[in-house]
Amino acid sequence: MILVTGGTGLLGSHLLFDLVSTGHPVRAIKRKTSNIEMVRKVFSYYSDKADEFFGKIEWVEADIMDFVAISEVLEGIDIVYHAGAVVSFYPKDHEAMLKVNIEGTANLVNLCIDRNITKFCYVSSVAVLGRALNDGVSDETTWWQPSKKNSVYGQSKYGAEREVWRGIEEGLNAYIVNPSVILGPGFWGGGNSGLFSLVWKGLKYYTRGINGFVDVRDISKAMIRLMESDISRERFILSAENCSYQQLFEYMAKYLGKPAPSINVPNSMTGIAWRVEALRSFLMRTLPEVTKEMATTTTMVYTYSNEKIRKAIGFEFTPLEQSIREISEIFLRDHK
Ligand SMILES: NC(=O)c1ccc[n+]([C@@H]2O[C@H](COP(=O)([O-])OP(=O)(O)OC[C@H]3O[C@@H](n4cnc5c(N)ncnc54)[C@H](OP(=O)(O)O)[C@@H]3O)[C@@H](O)[C@H]2O)c1
Repeated sequence: MILVTGGTGLLGSHLLFDLVSTGHPVRAIKRKTSNIEMVRKVFSYYSDKADEFFGKIEWVEADIMDFVAISEVLEGIDIVYHAGAVVSFYPKDHEAMLKVNIEGTANLVNLCIDRNITKFCYVSSVAVLGRALNDGVSDETTWWQPSKKNSVYGQSKYGAEREVWRGIEEGLNAYIVNPSVILGPGFWGGGNSGLFSLVWKGLKYYTRGINGFVDVRDISKAMIRLMESDISRERFILSAENCSYQQLFEYMAKYLGKPAPSINVPNSMTGIAWRVEALRSFLMRTLPEVTKEMATTTTMVYTYSNEKIRKAIGFEFTPLEQSIREISEIFLRDHK
């Protein structure tokens, strides 16, 4: 039996679909506050048998911080996909994010070693690759460098990935995937899927940054292919293409039938933008729409090599423009 953490999120819901629709028995954890109906919604994008597939998931309530609950959840499990994490660029989440992502992963790693789990997949991030000293293309050998440019999210994922490497040294049969910015449908209210909503609402501004982007369906498929292979003790960057935010927004605008953002925000202005927004959100007691970390990330140039996964299992990524066209089609169906 397979265990999936993070099954109610963007990546986890796609992974659950790929697993249950191909007949794998799956247990997934959720929390009291989780919205599992989003998982059913995601399934409906890809199949007429969404309800039937959704009904095949064995849902168990557990928080990865709860050692005892996770220990019980692991009963009868031989394969674990660990995609659960706090993903946030809001300062209010920093403390919880560091705790959940590092300690929660340590809990799972320790219990999986104890239970002799057959194979473990950890979803890390390109945010753990050293960025400070690297002006070129990052690959799997680009190691973490302490730097003010690292986000707190990056720090939390780095701490978590270290727990997995420690587990591997202690006998855990594991591999790690490091996705770049994941694009996918369904969670239009926030995160990266929220970028489609911003362009739909008429986003006017873009920054000069470049980043790696990848289709959520490719991440899920690569994770399963690696699980079914003999590969372990390795990490793999999963990133389809390096692309500027300007080009990304142009693709989104093209397929959503909206004008592309046309006003470039110079890097010096983003510093002013997040400070003004911080003050506004403080006064209004709402979440800021732009934080310092968001502003920094979208002005930086980060590029990634996907050569290792392509060579290891012959994996081919969906071209970015095709992903954005297909996600936009789902967005338009959801906003009829
Ligand atoms: N999105 C990206 O661009 C990106 C890029 C690289 C790597 N990643 C990594 O990919 C993974 C999935 O990301 P995503 O975009 O799918 O994130 P997401 O949509 O925010 O989903 C996060 C998932 O983690 C679960 N979770 C959070 N705290 C938990 C806790 N204490 N106990 C149990 N479950 C908990 C959430 O459950 P609830 O529903 O209960 O909140 C949710 O299912 C994460 O590990 C993330 O770091 C994401």
